[in-house]
Amino acid sequence: MKAILIQKTGSVDNIEVSDLPQPGKLKSGEVRLKFLAGSLNHLDLWVLKGLPRVTYQFPHILGADLCAEVLESKSKKFKRGQRVVLYPAKSQGKELNGKPAPENLCSDFHIRGENTSGVFAEETIAHKKFIFLAPKHLSNAEAAAMPLVYLTAWQMVYEKAGLRPKQKFDGKILVHGAGSGVSQAILNLLLSFGLKKQIAITSRDLNKLSFWQKKGIQTFQFGSQTSDEIKNWAAGKTNEKVSIIFDHLGEKFFEMNIRLLKTGGKFITCGATTGFEGKIDLRHLYFRQLQLLGSTMGSLAHFKEMISWITKSKITPKIAAEFDFYHPKAGFALMEAAEQDGKIVFLRP
Ligand SMILES: NC(=O)c1ccc[n+]([C@@H]2O[C@H](COP(=O)([O-])OP(=O)(O)OC[C@H]3O[C@@H](n4cnc5c(N)ncnc54)[C@H](OP(=O)(O)O)[C@@H]3O)[C@@H](O)[C@H]2O)c1
Repeated sequence: MKAILIQKTGSVDNIEVSDLPQPGKLKSGEVRLKFLAGSLNHLDLWVLKGLPRVTYQFPHILGADLCAEVLESKSKKFKRGQRVVLYPAKSQGKELNGKPAPENLCSDFHIRGENTSGVFAEETIAHKKFIFLAPKHLSNAEAAAMPLVYLTAWQMVYEKAGLRPKQKFDGKILVHGAGSGVSQAILNLLLSFGLKKQIAITSRDLNKLSFWQKKGIQTFQFGSQTSDEIKNWAAGKTNEKVSIIFDHLGEKFFEMNIRLLKTGGKFITCGATTGFEGKIDLRHLYFRQLQLLGSTMGSLAHFKEMISWITKSKITPKIAAEFDFYHPKAGFALMEAAEQDGKIVFLRP
């Protein structure tokens, strides 16, 4: 079978679509999946470039996000022909003492395509507990665009920020990076929860902001005046500042973010695209009793909740561009240039 893989880390030039042996026989509870669509995450770029804490086993199949058709099933839960999506990680969901625990907090938590084999292959075998029916209102591309970024956004919005649908919430919310898959997932969840006038979004690109502006969200384009404009918005008439900041840009805006937060405000981060160092004057942290919260993906329970909310509220991920599975390099290059507005998808012709 063909798979999108690397034989060593490096650049987009190292990506190959090559033959690998077909996955073997199914064990009880396993399901054989045929690739219909897969979506790129920034993580796939980090993996391609080389992650120091990951021990690669080459050839390494890339990709975490999959929409697939069931080809064969050793589980009564699934039948041949069903359209499914996959939890983008693996774990037994148990602490070392055997007690149940959220998968993404367990020591055996492995993200597909990062520290375990990925899903950008014509066939993948997965255990039934990680497989879910794809929401009917989504196309193959949209279903493949959902798993990793919506799971991450769900944990950030629902668990870390503690926001709920129809909840009365007057605080200001700032989301960075309008073009990003994860930010768009956060914004769609916030909108579906009934929040709008409290939200602001940043981007380097005016075109990416106009989509959200039309939905009634305050927008800021990064430039020389931006931090003053954001400070004015955050301060408002009573100097109230920002209640929640959702970030993945990291170093470049970290000091600004800390200053923007109100007393008791939350900085919720899942990434550091512009750099890994964050300098903080600790007096800001304790005097204003700020909460700095890290977030990585989510548990299987979060994944179920997220899919059921997406289905109920008919959320549709935005597709930036579609590429042929057998010619994936241009998709990776587009993400590297950060020119996409939404998710980059690979489809099997
Ligand atoms: N911990 C987790 O579970 C988790 C899960 C998902 C993602 N992440 C992390 O979150 C980040 C975003 O992931 P993604 O897949 O959504 O990525 P993406 O679709 O590639 O989006 C990246 C966006 O970041 C913005 N950006 C990039 N460089 C920038 C710079 N120098 N200055 C200002 N903005 C910049 C751009 O937004 P504009 O074009 O709008 O300016 C760009 O579109 C990555 O670092 C990823 O590793 C972490």
